Formats: sequence, C-alpha cells, structure tokens
Amino acid sequence: MAGNVDQQPIETGGNGAEKGADNGTKGHGRDIVLSAKDVTVAFGPKVVLDRLNLDIYRGEILGFVGASGTGKSVLMRTVLRLLPRRSGTIKILGQDFDELDEPERNALDMRLGVLFQQGALFSSLTVKENIQVPMREYLDLPASLMDELAHLKIRMVGLAADAADKYPSELSGGMIKRAALARALALDPELVFLDEPTSGLDPIGAAEFDELIANLRDSLGLTVYMVTHDLDSLFSVCDRIAVLGKKRVMVEGTIDDMLAYDDPWVQAYFKGKRARSIVPQEHAPAQAQHDSGK
Ligand SMILES: Nc1ncnc2c1ncn2[C@@H]1O[C@H](COP(=O)(O)OP(=O)(O)O)[C@@H](O)[C@H]1O
Ligand SMILES: [Mg+2]
Repeated sequence: MAGNVDQQPIETGGNGAEKGADNGTKGHGRDIVLSAKDVTVAFGPKVVLDRLNLDIYRGEILGFVGASGTGKSVLMRTVLRLLPRRSGTIKILGQDFDELDEPERNALDMRLGVLFQQGALFSSLTVKENIQVPMREYLDLPASLMDELAHLKIRMVGLAADAADKYPSELSGGMIKRAALARALALDPELVFLDEPTSGLDPIGAAEFDELIANLRDSLGLTVYMVTHDLDSLFSVCDRIAVLGKKRVMVEGTIDDMLAYDDPWVQAYFKGKRARSIVPQEHAPAQAQHDSGK
C-alpha cells in the first residue's frame, strides 16, 4: 500500500543519465542523487534546521512531510541555494555547488526542475511562455524549436494543446499545477523538486496529479523530491517517506516504518489515515495540528 512496489534496484534512468563521476555516489547499493549532511539553517537566532541529514536515491519518489512551519520549504530552498545555510554540505548529482564555478553551476541547475509552493506561474505570461522561461534562461534556441518543445511538455503533463496560449488566470487549479510541472520539466531535468504540488486540489485532481508524477518518473527516469501534506500521495505514490521534526529528519522509511515510529506527531499523522480510510471523510488532510511534533 505504500507504493513500494518497485524497490528493486533502480536503473540509472533513461534521461540524461550520463555515466560518470558526477552522477551521484553509491549508498546502500543505490545511487544517491542528493545528499544533505549536517545542514543547519537559521534566521537570526531562530534555528530552523539543525544538523539535518537526508539522502535521496535515484529513481525514487521521496515524500517529505512534517508539521506546518517545520522547515520543509526552507530545506528545499536551501538545497536550491535560494537560502544560505549556516553549516553543512549538500551534494546534488554528486556535485557540491560550493566547489563549482559559474558555468558548472548553471550546468548543474539545468539538471534540476522545481515547482515552488507559491507563485507556480508568471501571471503575465501564457502557459507556453512560462514553460519557455527556463529555456530562455539557459539555452539559446530558435523560437520554432522552443514552441515545439513547449508543446511537447504540455502534452507530457496531460494538458490540451490549446492550453498553450492561455494565461494562468484562465486555468483551473489542477491545470496550473500541470503547467507549472511542465515548466519544471522544460529542460529535461533528472531531479525534480515539488513543494506541495497537490495542495489546493480536490482529491480527484490530486490523485490524478500523483498518477502523472508516477508515470513521468517511470517514463523519464526522474527522481522526485516531493514536499507534501497529502496523505493520499504518501500512501499511493511515494516510495519512501522522510519526516521533518525537531529540526531534523526524524524518521525515514516506508509507511510501516512511520506507523511503528514512536513520536506523537508521527503517530497522529499516519494513524489518522488508517482510521479515515476505513471511514472515508471529506478531503480533510490530517493537518494534525498537534504541537507535540514541533
Ligand atoms: N526568509 C525567512 N526569514 C525568516 N524566517 C523564515 C524565512 N523563511 C521561513 N522562515 C521560517 O522558517 C520556518 C519554516 O518555514 P517553512 O520552511 O516555510 O515551513 P514548512 O515546513 O511549512 O514549509 C517558519 O517558522 C518560517 O516562519
Ligand atoms: Mg512549505
């Protein structure tokens, strides 16, 4: 039930998986595509992450959860170098940004796709133009090719072709998420960061989005780092779960590992689902506002 069906060794994906030393390091026999070690992030005196450790393996969909305000978005933004860290090392696809020069950083950035929690799309640009933003930033392609690529991505995320020339205000919430995903995939990344991609979607829209993520992982060989509040996503699509609590990754593993883990927030969060799956309720993500986990 935990979506652990493909725990067999994961192939090095079909997408941009060049052989070479920069392609991650091995851990537990699996390729590590992101490794955060002893990462500390603070805002003034307020320490949000304290010597946090996290590994992400190639080809997996990692669900990253934790109570609201624990630092899930902060970690993602830190990994992407949008926030400074006080200490610790972060390696992505085997490389440490701190050791790279500008062209090398750009090259590594191009291998990452991001869907942010807020501001998924530029409201003044059409879907097609939004998808082309990363292409313009990193590549020098003729307009006709960029159009072709944008249309390809639009199809890939299951949007109708006529979505290309629409503005975000003309799209439903689910379509906006898909368009934002298309933009994240614009440069054929290997590792994709999704911050609460299904928040705000109704349960059916969220389930469809999850299915899309799983299909894209399979077809493109993506690795997906998904911050989520959505228990359904965790149960249905994530191969592995990591829980942020007490400023660290408190526990990681399968749903069963979560259920066995002795922490009030983890227990309330994951056992709540069990109860609800027997007595289905309205879409009520277990916000589990139990302060005990903070
Ligand atoms: N730029 C910032 N400056 C100061 N505090 C911040 C900043 N960004 C996030 N925080 C604080 O860090 C904590 C974690 O935030 P966040 O990562 O957004 O939580 P979540 O787990 O809900 O994504 C919160 O207390 C938030 O107020
Ligand atoms: Mg957040």
